[in-house]
Amino acid sequence: MRIFLDTANIEDIRRGVAMGVVDGVTTNPSLVAKEGVEYRDRVLEICETVDGPISAECISTEADDLVAEARRIAAWHPNVVVKIAMTEAGLQAIKRVSAEGIKVNTTLIFSANQALLAARAGATFVSPFVGRLNDAGQDGMEIVRESVAVFETYHLPTQVLAASLRGPRDVTEAALAGAHIATIPPAVLYQMVQHPLTDTGIERFLADASKYTPV
Ligand code: E4P
Repeated sequence: MRIFLDTANIEDIRRGVAMGVVDGVTTNPSLVAKEGVEYRDRVLEICETVDGPISAECISTEADDLVAEARRIAAWHPNVVVKIAMTEAGLQAIKRVSAEGIKVNTTLIFSANQALLAARAGATFVSPFVGRLNDAGQDGMEIVRESVAVFETYHLPTQVLAASLRGPRDVTEAALAGAHIATIPPAVLYQMVQHPLTDTGIERFLADASKYTPV
């Protein structure tokens, strides 16, 4: 399973890249708005920092407008993937721009049926929002599992990008569910590195190592 960072914060992205574990980045309008930067500038900065798919979201709501916006955003950089929300107009736009070779991440997926439709329209990625489904009292990871199973059964090349993950356990569950990618907030990545037994283990080894001459 590949790991993307779900953020528009460039310091966090640089830190994750330095750790050697970041394969791509997803952004959304809320994440960009938090940074107080120009959208295009930040997406380009991210593209210079991470050599992998960088999702940038379209905000139009009509099919023709979505197609025009997707073309504009995709032209920013070869690694840009346009995010299009799962609506009827969105499906029309996904079909049209995917046929032109533009990569699409279908966002706001809340059922395996939505994932199937996006895949049939030609999306490269679908993003089931696990945490938001859990918030609503459903089993969010089930949508990931079902989407992976449907795509495997029908040999659909679309990748399942588990999104809206809120903690380290969600990442493990996404991997076990067969997600191709997990996109995670930087805080979750930092938590994944940590284990109290690792810390006490290091302390003990360092204490013992001080009893002999270092090489
Ligand atoms: C995915 O691409 C979204 O940006 C993100 O995962 C949404 O997460 P949230 O539900 O925590 O806002």
